[in-house]
Amino acid sequence: MARLVINANKKVSKIHKEIYGHFSEHLGRCIYEGIYVGEDSPIENVNGMRTDVVEALKEIWIPVLRWPGGCFADEYHWMDGIGPKENRKKIINTHWGGVVEDNSFGTHEYFELCRQLGCETYVNGNLGSGTVQEMSEWVEYMTFQGVSPMAELRAKNGHDDPWKVDFFGVGNENWGCGGNMNPDFYANEYRRYQTYVRDYNSDHKIQKICCGANVDDYEWTREVLKTCFNHSLPQHHGFMDGLSLHYYVHPEGWEIKGSATDFDDKVWYKTLNKALFMDELISRHATIMDEYDPKKEIAMIVDEWGTWFTVEPGTNPGFLYQQNTMRDALVAGITLNIFNKHSDRVRMANLAQMVNVLQAVLLTEGEKMLKTPTYHVFDMYKYHQEGMLVDSCIDTETIGVEEEYPVPNLTESVSVDKDGVLHITITNLSLEENYEIDGVLLDQDVESVTGEIVVNEMHAMNTFEAPETVRKEVFDQVTITDKGLKFTIPACSVVHLAVK
Ligand code: AHR
Repeated sequence: MARLVINANKKVSKIHKEIYGHFSEHLGRCIYEGIYVGEDSPIENVNGMRTDVVEALKEIWIPVLRWPGGCFADEYHWMDGIGPKENRKKIINTHWGGVVEDNSFGTHEYFELCRQLGCETYVNGNLGSGTVQEMSEWVEYMTFQGVSPMAELRAKNGHDDPWKVDFFGVGNENWGCGGNMNPDFYANEYRRYQTYVRDYNSDHKIQKICCGANVDDYEWTREVLKTCFNHSLPQHHGFMDGLSLHYYVHPEGWEIKGSATDFDDKVWYKTLNKALFMDELISRHATIMDEYDPKKEIAMIVDEWGTWFTVEPGTNPGFLYQQNTMRDALVAGITLNIFNKHSDRVRMANLAQMVNVLQAVLLTEGEKMLKTPTYHVFDMYKYHQEGMLVDSCIDTETIGVEEEYPVPNLTESVSVDKDGVLHITITNLSLEENYEIDGVLLDQDVESVTGEIVVNEMHAMNTFEAPETVRKEVFDQVTITDKGLKFTIPACSVVHLAVK
């Protein structure tokens, strides 16, 4: 019997809704086909955006959407994507498959998508190959109200009113595809570029995101903060509001990656072991951030995370299209529990990517759309958004088939929402064992419990022929006890309980 102890009176930190954020890049079939089909498409759409996709994302309360990349961002010249579509420049998407990018989805379309989704905006600027002027004018185009060349151009293109930019990324992966810079060089560039990311609207500050480390490159974090974190500024958060971190799970390493659907028990545990590494990464980068920013004013923004497998056989290798199984559901459940537990520092995260790319929540094929196992985990975890993380811990034992890749059998996190409802999310990483959980709620009586579960065998996935194989189901196997509650969590599952 594993004891889960919850002290709801000990509130730890707010779980910012942006932790449940998404990422959409001009990559493969994410934007085109997956989201944007154009006004004339036979697929049901509103102003070119697929209705099925928009509705599905609203159901999981999508809080924020990052765009236009990724590596694409540092080659994106925003002026190519405005004005009459027939005049827009056709360019080669050099990073992703060498296909033609016709720029029919640009700034206006992105803000229209976010309007339909009702989500915040996170625009990633081009520091790698763009000029300071270009970045500065984009911000002016998007946010300035009044008389200015860019505001006039925006009005000429059909949008009088400015939009709201909530987050702005000053470059992406500038240690790699965004210019192969060393930390010192990037940090000085960041200082310069961010100066011209102006706040034209005094009521709405743009949160500036500085490019952070690749995985465990702690030197990058230290060097960038050394140059960019300015102790002498009374409000350094005006200078830098967030520092990003990117981490992908490749079971067989970056070169080989490994199949999304064909794996054995050993690879299952290896993958989950690698997902759990996120905890160490956040802790170690956060320790460095604490040295500069002990008040935790700068957010850690994990703006790319998820599984990255070998592409589905027969698909364009540059399109990063992969299937999604129960293994992805577990990676999502484990990682989101980790983010919740680090919500004092992690204040945004963006799953890569939203539709048809990497660990997507949705896949499309022509007019068909399906929800992946990862989608259903986001659907269960959405109740943590804007809740307060509360103190909790669970007894665990080490499992796995190889000493090299041990994992705990269970992970959890617990929050309380504005109505006082406790939300408990638990993952069972074992392929065989069900575990009995004895939930102890300190100083709190339980009136009622409702539950939901995503459970299946490890290879289970949704296909266009069988789109409902993995789905969220009711979990009503919970008993209320005098100490709290008791239940058995099945092998290979993710559970959400709402406790009043
Ligand atoms: O998400 C795919 C790619 O992964 C992004 O474009 C890049 O930032 C990262 O390397």
